Parts: sequence; structure tokens; C-alpha cells
Amino acid sequence: MKIDVLTLFPEMFDALKASLIGKAQNNNILDINIINIRDFSKDKHKKCDDYTYGGGNGMLMTPQPIYDAITSIDGYKEAHKIYLSPKGEKLTQKKVKSLTDFDHVILLCGHYEGVDQRVIDLLIDEEISIGDYVLTGGEIPAMVLIDSVSRYIPGVLGNEASTEDESFSNNNLEYPQYTRPAEFMGLKVPEVLISGDHAKVDKWREEESKKITKKRRPDLM
Ligand SMILES: C[S@@+](CC[C@H](N)C(=O)[O-])C[C@H]1O[C@@H](n2cnc3c(N)ncnc32)[C@H](O)[C@@H]1O
Repeated sequence: MKIDVLTLFPEMFDALKASLIGKAQNNNILDINIINIRDFSKDKHKKCDDYTYGGGNGMLMTPQPIYDAITSIDGYKEAHKIYLSPKGEKLTQKKVKSLTDFDHVILLCGHYEGVDQRVIDLLIDEEISIGDYVLTGGEIPAMVLIDSVSRYIPGVLGNEASTEDESFSNNNLEYPQYTRPAEFMGLKVPEVLISGDHAKVDKWREEESKKITKKRRPDLM
């Protein structure tokens, strides 16, 4: 999958160089390209924001640098273009999975009070929110989207089964997990998990999964 990210703060994306996402890029499984919107500003001071028409607090990102940055991308017409926005559709695991249908995704990160509506009307296919709260910029939401979508791309996770048996995959939250030692600070790993009886382990996990979902997220069931 190719992902182009448009931002005024490219340095924030250094976080994507670490861990599994970094590895996937090194192995050419993921192609993430960070584009500095400021490089496209025609303003002599490379300004990318201005006051809002009609008054109000704060600055808005101007349309020209964003428009030129998006249209400079090879294949931008066919790519799926997303603006990260608190006004967008909320990101869920189902939505994350559906985004893997696209080979090329362009992510626009807003800042300040957001972006001029005309650039959204002209170029954006959909707006996505990572939750009902407002952040200072779309950079962290873009990284949340990249991380969650990447986990579905073959080769990104060490163990492909990992996405099939975890929270939200079957409308359930995941069961409790344990590793060594068998006893820690007086707390023992549930007997069934060390019994070697796989059928019993599966049954226990299913029951625990249902129990925790019912208690914490009955809306998922
Ligand atoms: C301070 S916010 C702008 C909020 C906007 N004035 C509003 O009230 O809807 C600046 C930028 O952060 C990003 N952002 C903030 N919260 C977000 C969220 N929950 N999901 C996705 N992006 C978000 C968007 O890109 C937005 O343009």
C-alpha cells in the first residue's frame, strides 16, 4: 500500500520509523511518503494559514498550498483522499479493514482551526475522525489510521493470525492473556491454560471474552 501524508509538521512522523511499521517500510511492504505542505506555498514567506472570513478565533490553513501539494502526487485522481477531521466518520475496526481495499491513500492533516472548505469540496473523498474530541492537528490521527490499517497488510505483523483473534475482530473484546512465570506476586495463571487441553483453552477464552465484553462494552455484542 502507498500512503502519502500531507502535513505542516513532517518531523512528527519520525515515530513511524520505529517498530513494525518502520520494519514494513524497510521491507517495501509499506510505502509511506511524508509531504510538507509548506513547500508548495506560493507566498513569499511560505505562509500556509490566514484569518477566517466572517471572524472568529484562530487561523485556517489556506487552500492553495494544499491543492498544489495533493495535485503534485502521481496518481492523485485515483487515490483515496482522506481528510482527518473531528467532523468525519468515526474510525472503527470495520472501517480500518475496509480501507485496506485501496492501494493508494492520501491523508491530509489539518492544523490550527482546520482547512479551507473549498479544498475539501474539490479534492477530498471522505473525512475520518479518530474520536469525539479535538486535537491540535491531524498528524496523530493520521498515524493512528496508518498503524491500524497497516496491521491488515500481509507481512506487516509477524503472526498473520494476530488480527483474527483480538479485540473487535468478532464483536468481542479479547480474553485475558498470561505469559511466564506461572506464578507472579502470588497470582497464578488460570489452571486451564497450562492443562495442554486445547479444546478447554478455546472454551475458556471464548467465555472470558464474552464476559469482559458484556461487562465493559455490551454495545459491541
Ligand atoms: C483544532 S483541530 C480543528 C477543529 C475544528 N475547528 C472543529 O471544530 O471541528 C485542527 C486539526 O486537527 C485534526 N483533528 C483534530 N481532532 C481530530 C479528530 N478527533 N480526528 C481527526 N482529526 C482531528 C484535524 O485535521 C483538524 O483540522
